[in-house]
Amino acid sequence: MKKFAFVDALGLDTAEAYRLLVGCVVPRPIAWITTVDAEGRVNAAPFSSYNYVATDPPMLAVNITSKGDVLKDTARNIRESREFVVNVADVSTMAAMHASASEYPPDVSETDALNIELLPSTRVRPPRIAASPIQMECKLDQFIVLGKGRNTLYIGEVVAFHLSTDVYDGQRVDSVALNPIARLGGPFYSALGEIFNRPMLQRPPGGEGWIHQANAPIPKKD
Ligand SMILES: Cc1cc2nc3c(=O)[nH]c(=O)nc-3n(C[C@H](O)[C@H](O)[C@H](O)COP(=O)(O)O)c2cc1C
Repeated sequence: MKKFAFVDALGLDTAEAYRLLVGCVVPRPIAWITTVDAEGRVNAAPFSSYNYVATDPPMLAVNITSKGDVLKDTARNIRESREFVVNVADVSTMAAMHASASEYPPDVSETDALNIELLPSTRVRPPRIAASPIQMECKLDQFIVLGKGRNTLYIGEVVAFHLSTDVYDGQRVDSVALNPIARLGGPFYSALGEIFNRPMLQRPPGGEGWIHQANAPIPKKD
């Protein structure tokens, strides 16, 4: 029998709640978000309180914490421009992605300071990060202030996907080739571990033409 510690969530202070949540909700994918400010300066920062939340149209959501009343540069830029790009962070981009989380003053561009190579986007002003294997151009759909106001959920509609042909064959993204980096609790990151194959027991949304892949081979690692 497992033994369980009981933690009463009512009355938890913010730091304890954060420590518990980032330990319990793992592994988390990382949205490496690029935005531009009113002067056109490019900002980049990583966010792991992130996922996809809708498929029709495709939508992503990210939770950005405010520092008191002061918005992080990413949040301020998203509110002002209503545009952002989610660049998928992989193992090869970990060092630059992690470094871009340092607090640079708002007038300093992380992408300039860290020499992060950029590519133009097609439907939004913020550029894409060239080293990232997948970039998703997003327009802000809505934002929702949560709880006592410390957290805001920004929901963006994906208006364009850019997928490296190293990871995308025109149908599917190959997770092993993608080699995503994930966030764990504390200072830890992880890469993909063992991959399991279990047949899907339900059709995916909109999956009228769905081909059941019961015996799909497990993607190979080198
Ligand atoms: C891997 C990683 C994940 C992070 N996830 C979040 C997050 O989900 N929400 C958040 O508000 N900050 C998160 N941060 C902290 C921001 O990246 C950090 O506050 C950054 O300085 C914000 O930059 P900006 O002011 O340029 O927007 C994360 C940092 C790292 C390294």
